[in-house]
Amino acid sequence: PAGHDPGHLCGQCRPASPQHLMPSAPQLPALTLPRFILPMKPAAFLREHWQKKALLMPGAARGLDQPDANTLAGLALEESVEARIITGAGNGPWSVLQSPLADDVFETLGEENWTLLVQSVDHFLTETSLLLDDFAFLPNWRVEDIMISYAAKGGSVGPHFDRYDVFLIQAAGHRRWQIGDVCDESTPRQPTDELKLLAEMPVREEFVAGPGDVLYLPPGVAHHGVAEDSDCITWSVGFRAPDYQMLMAEIAGECLAESDSQLFTDPDREITADPTVLADADRQQLIRGALDLLQPDAIERAVYRWLSTPRLDGLEFAIDDHHIRERDSDVALVRHGSVRLLMQGKLAWLNGDSHTLTEQQRPLVQLLASKRRYRESELDAVMTPAARELLHEWIEQGYFAPL
Ligand code: SIN
Ligand code: CO
Repeated sequence: PAGHDPGHLCGQCRPASPQHLMPSAPQLPALTLPRFILPMKPAAFLREHWQKKALLMPGAARGLDQPDANTLAGLALEESVEARIITGAGNGPWSVLQSPLADDVFETLGEENWTLLVQSVDHFLTETSLLLDDFAFLPNWRVEDIMISYAAKGGSVGPHFDRYDVFLIQAAGHRRWQIGDVCDESTPRQPTDELKLLAEMPVREEFVAGPGDVLYLPPGVAHHGVAEDSDCITWSVGFRAPDYQMLMAEIAGECLAESDSQLFTDPDREITADPTVLADADRQQLIRGALDLLQPDAIERAVYRWLSTPRLDGLEFAIDDHHIRERDSDVALVRHGSVRLLMQGKLAWLNGDSHTLTEQQRPLVQLLASKRRYRESELDAVMTPAARELLHEWIEQGYFAPL
């Protein structure tokens, strides 16, 4: 099982601290955009940890000062935002409030033992989404979203496991993490529990994460995080693992949308020997007729359309250009946080729609797909009249914003 050898999670990957080389003069932390630096070679991470084994990466992230608790609370009250408040500690009882949340909900919660979870913050706050550029050692389509939690002291979502890979990034305050065994659907859960909490969780590792510490967990590893102080903010960079049942539904939808209704015909039928059975030839004709609807072109379209569709539509949230410029004055253009852009040869898939690109447009769109913020010189290097026209259109539609 992942993450078991004692002491493995802690310490090993701590980057060499430059502190002893520096005079201890107090330094004001410079404002930066969110950053995550994988403290090992990506190939080694993929080989040793990805989908296999937990990893604690002390001090691997920074620039996580925003969103603060107030910004998160405000976001959680927005109509289009998915949020939950989980109250409880220890052995429970636990309760869950799902969005839409009442305007005065935070006044009723008390000082301890609750957590606010806000889903897909990257879709709404573009500055948060910029962290995702630092996960380019994985394909963009594999990223789902960034959930952010704010917890009061003692707040927790209880012992559980997730079905997806996640990087848990401590942005503010401290969280005590307990890590357990690898679980699956047969692992006993607490009875009648909408949170699907584990009935028991033997603790294999335990440590406290502080600001900038990052914990990678593969799918299935039991974990339980408890806020040690009352300003505990944790980002969860979650990955999408397409569910084949859902993919099949998308493929069926795309194939059916492209085809006309066609009925079974049998003009050459011969006399039926046994009317109680489905004859071999009839069965084969029926199955072939249905499967012929699965056209390779439509299947591919379904895959690209699905993978380029954001989890939520957050385009109505304006980009905070001041926030971004203050932290990186070189940014000339930024991609809105709820935009997914996936390349397929001459096509670009943007939020579920395909665009056929001309030769003059391709280098620009390649750049736009490769990351989320762009310098003037990078844009100049790929700009042509046709590229400018397409970019202008995408800016008008809110997918990109000049700063
Ligand atoms: C949290 O942020 O409170 C919990 C995230 C998790 O355990 O998956
Ligand atoms: Co979890």
